[in-house]
Amino acid sequence: MVTIAVMNQKGGVGKSTVTRNFGAFLASQGYRTLMIDVDAQSNLSQICNVSADIESTVLDAFRNQVPQIYNVSENLSIIPSSLSFAGIELEIIGAMQREMFLSKAIKKLPDEFDICLVDCPPAINIITTNALAASQWVLIPMEASLTAFNGLEMMFKIISMVRDGLNPDLSVLGAFINKYKEKTVIAREILQTMEDIGVHIALFNSKVRQFEDFKKAEFAKKSIFDIGNGSLAAADFRALGFEILDKLKANNSIR
Ligand SMILES: Nc1ncnc2c1ncn2[C@@H]1O[C@H](COP(=O)(O)OP(=O)(O)O)[C@@H](O)[C@H]1O
Ligand SMILES: [Mg+2]
Repeated sequence: MVTIAVMNQKGGVGKSTVTRNFGAFLASQGYRTLMIDVDAQSNLSQICNVSADIESTVLDAFRNQVPQIYNVSENLSIIPSSLSFAGIELEIIGAMQREMFLSKAIKKLPDEFDICLVDCPPAINIITTNALAASQWVLIPMEASLTAFNGLEMMFKIISMVRDGLNPDLSVLGAFINKYKEKTVIAREILQTMEDIGVHIALFNSKVRQFEDFKKAEFAKKSIFDIGNGSLAAADFRALGFEILDKLKANNSIR
């Protein structure tokens, strides 16, 4: 199983949206996909309609217990989060190997999945380092705005630190522009600015434009494909999905 952390310390850039819809895309391609929500805000769990009456959450993984896996749709499952996860940082701050809880929990999961997507919180904290320590890849949704660069250097520094100190298998899979509006800053300028600040990463060619359909899907607790497979929003997301999948295949992370 290959594990991908969906990370950006900024909120609202599309981490939970890409986890939900890339998960649905992978499932549609026949990959058995597990999503793990490690954000106490639990947006991903809510938009997957797995948040009411749940007995077990990702909190169990951080307490050395086996978390329950919930089915979302064919080939797509989730380990949900809930507000009760909010206190976990204080709970594990003094624990031995506090960055390794998620990695250990993932290693104990049943051998049922091809891909695991970890939806990170909008912060750089012990939970995020747990996600990075457990992953082979980092996928970064970004918005095409100047404020997108705030904290970006710090994010790459943390990724390097985790690679050097905890997880030599970690690499950046790539970033992509979400909520793209053609009239704002173009991708090339963004890439240039990234290089200017010394961050050399692969930006996927596919951009996901801003569409109301994403909010509609969220409200309906469905994927972007479920609410309209022929929509422009679904097409944008499918193109991104194939591009990411090709990169995973080219790196022998998946067949
Ligand atoms: N391409 C898009 N077009 C329109 N709305 C989007 C798009 N991507 C995400 N959104 C919306 O933006 C909000 C924040 O997205 P979310 O995935 O929750 O961000 P994050 O997990 O990074 O905080 C959500 O309401 C989501 O529906
Ligand atoms: Mg989120």
